[in-house]
Amino acid sequence: MSQAPERFLADQTAIVTGASSGLGQACAIALAARGAAVAVNYRSDADGAADTIREIEAAGGKAFPFKADISQEEDIKALFAATVETYGTVDILVANAGLQMDGAFTDLTKKDWDTVIGVNLTGAFLCMQEAVRQFRKQGMRSSRALGKIIAMSSVHDVIPWAGHVNYAASKGGLSMLMKSAAQELAAEKIRVNAIAPGAIATAINKSVWGDEEKYKELLKIMPYGRIGETRDVGEACAWMASDYADYMTGHTLVIDGGMELYPEFIGNG
Ligand code: BGC
Repeated sequence: MSQAPERFLADQTAIVTGASSGLGQACAIALAARGAAVAVNYRSDADGAADTIREIEAAGGKAFPFKADISQEEDIKALFAATVETYGTVDILVANAGLQMDGAFTDLTKKDWDTVIGVNLTGAFLCMQEAVRQFRKQGMRSSRALGKIIAMSSVHDVIPWAGHVNYAASKGGLSMLMKSAAQELAAEKIRVNAIAPGAIATAINKSVWGDEEKYKELLKIMPYGRIGETRDVGEACAWMASDYADYMTGHTLVIDGGMELYPEFIGNG
């Protein structure tokens, strides 16, 4: 970027779950570049979290790492408590932590189901609850909203996905969690939105974009002609958390290079 980014999140604190790699890392970096102090949550990848923090600090931002398993309520409470202790407030939650455990329909074990739902959906729900409790406690401060929540969904909150039913179910559920919470909390000036990324090059889908043949196939369902980069999502996340998006709630921002545009209908149908 040629000029210093506008610090429209100055004097605000963000928690980003799953911020040691991929989309969470990009969101943490973008939020910090806009002035937010960031709690960089990770579950096992301490080195990844350290990378996130190094990049934030190199750009003059503020961040600290916190290890917590987002499927565990006690860990989530500890993450929020540590953030309030370190920075005083929580103004933004990016409920990003998520994973895939793929398998054919009848091969998926109950553990595959529980783990994916436990992090992607139940974990997001518990983080959102904790965020709302904290927003209420601290009251109106440096934003037009009492608090902002952004859930990391997926194009698979609407596109069914064979071989990934646990993941698609978690994201479909997350979408209705986001909208129902947005409806319930709007009168309190709490904004709840989601981002639905398509194929963005991260560790979660490296087996696809890292393989020449599979990447060629993937491009067929991406009208824009390239795979996404994590910063395509990070910048949008920072904007959604800002007062520029103050009238936006209950919305899912799709960032997918056209994947949701039924590309298989190009020259067909
Ligand atoms: C998944 C990726 C996949 C993309 C598009 C995402 O939600 O995590 O693995 O490449 O959707 O299908």
